[in-house]
Amino acid sequence: MSARKHIIRTAGLAAVGVLSIGLVACSGGDDGASGDGEGGTATIGFVAVGPEGAWREANENNIQETFTEDAGYELKFAPATNNDQKSQIDSFTTFVDEGVDLILLSATEATGWEDSLEYAAEAEIPVVLLDRGIEPDNTDLYVTRIAPNNVEVSSAVAEWAEGEFPDGANYFTLEGPAGVSVVNERNEGFDAVIGDNSDFTKLGAQTANWTTDEGRSVIETVLKSNDNDVQFIFAQNDEMGIGAAQAVTEAGLTPGEDVKIASIDATKNGMEALAAGELSFVAEYNPLFGEIALDVVEKTLAGEEVEPSIVVESATFDSSEAAEEALPDRKF
Ligand code: AHR
Repeated sequence: MSARKHIIRTAGLAAVGVLSIGLVACSGGDDGASGDGEGGTATIGFVAVGPEGAWREANENNIQETFTEDAGYELKFAPATNNDQKSQIDSFTTFVDEGVDLILLSATEATGWEDSLEYAAEAEIPVVLLDRGIEPDNTDLYVTRIAPNNVEVSSAVAEWAEGEFPDGANYFTLEGPAGVSVVNERNEGFDAVIGDNSDFTKLGAQTANWTTDEGRSVIETVLKSNDNDVQFIFAQNDEMGIGAAQAVTEAGLTPGEDVKIASIDATKNGMEALAAGELSFVAEYNPLFGEIALDVVEKTLAGEEVEPSIVVESATFDSSEAAEEALPDRKF
């Protein structure tokens, strides 16, 4: 039995149309793809997050490997300094002042972007959001957001947990940093399923800043303060889930038996942890959407319509067998 399920959500048929046409154009036929659509080079400013973990590395490498000179682009990569929003805003402003053709933005913080986005709009420079959203979500200020659906992905985790614990469980949530859009969306999707289930007791939630070390130290404390009476941990990314599994083991418990851990991303490390039984469920948050972004940028620079939200297909993996089956051809 295949243990993979697909979470596929598109914003509408047009989105699928855009994607299929774009992918043909990007296949490098005779006319090939060219950034500005007239054989010239388009300059793209990429306001990025920078070093953060395996998912981010895969995503930002994929974007840089896609927007190449051969594809008709000059990509200016501007990672944040220590995840600091001010450094992103400074890079964003510089790109507007330089008059780039388009800005790609993966925001370290959900809020605080209105002035920057207005500044780009006044300069008629389109902005495309990658992965991270902004709050309030003013779609007049950007072309589209390209990302898997965080609410769907985290609801899939909660649905798995309800099936795994028919009589409920005591659980704890390891979150990404406060103020990040995907953290809010993942809480929203998880709570939409389990929030009303009185058999589940939320012991608490705390950020572990996407890292294994902090995931381990937080769960060490949670297990001690609850006398190990914790059955389920929802980790909002693989690195934190792997840290939680380390803490469970160090407490003399067995991950996958005494405490089940579910995480999001499905990076190679996460899938190896799933195959080893350290994690029990992994929902993919697919980072490889460079081709989709290229299609969107081409359409935008050609003045064509683009859906306001483009959802990247993701899958879920609910067993070690599923992980072992998927691991050989994992690309991130
Ligand atoms: O925004 C995506 C999240 O950021 C990933 O789930 C996490 O691993 C990354 O740091």
